[in-house]
Amino acid sequence: MPFKPVRRAYRLLHPKLTLFLVTKWKEKVNVMALAWAMPIDDEANLIGISVHEDNYSYKLLTKSKEFVLCVPSMKQLSLVWKVGTTTGADIDKIKEFGIKLEDGVKISTPHLKNCLGFLECEVEKSIKTGEHTLFIARVVYAAADSRYFDKVWKASAKPLFHIGSRYFATIGELKEAR
Ligand SMILES: Cc1cc2nc3c(=O)[nH]c(=O)nc-3n(C[C@H](O)[C@H](O)[C@H](O)COP(=O)(O)O)c2cc1C
Repeated sequence: MPFKPVRRAYRLLHPKLTLFLVTKWKEKVNVMALAWAMPIDDEANLIGISVHEDNYSYKLLTKSKEFVLCVPSMKQLSLVWKVGTTTGADIDKIKEFGIKLEDGVKISTPHLKNCLGFLECEVEKSIKTGEHTLFIARVVYAAADSRYFDKVWKASAKPLFHIGSRYFATIGELKEAR
């Protein structure tokens, strides 16, 4: 019998695009890794992210009610791992990891200078679900590096997918449906 019960069922829904979540409150800017993001409504430009309440980012996010999602490439895996395994409550990740930021376009939260694209978001609603909170937010501005994005990601962008635990992947084969 090849099927075995799976304890962490969410891992059956991975790989998921891995992102940098940037938050800012007053002068404090923080970055964490985030894989639990999803589109919700194209017309209304709504997306959702799920953030654990113990994360320092959660504290900044609930105060500022805005955030930026930045899309890293495979080249940034080590930075993704660093910001995803340390907390802004203990260290200044921007200084510690030499992260270069650029001013926001429509909101005051900045984005990473070296990323494939970014989405500036304003929180519309939050739903507490156990230890995570689902933030539903409106994308007020989004941009992508045109060398790597033309209506969809090009394979050459090498976006980063989280498989689970310490495992990551990128686009191997890109096929067009007919
Ligand atoms: C690849 C990866 C994906 C992650 N995805 C999420 C996520 O979707 N939601 C979440 O709350 N934490 C997620 N984390 C964990 C946070 O990034 C981690 O707890 C981080 O230390 C929080 O930083 P902060 O305390 O500075 O906010 C992820 C970590 C990694 C490495």
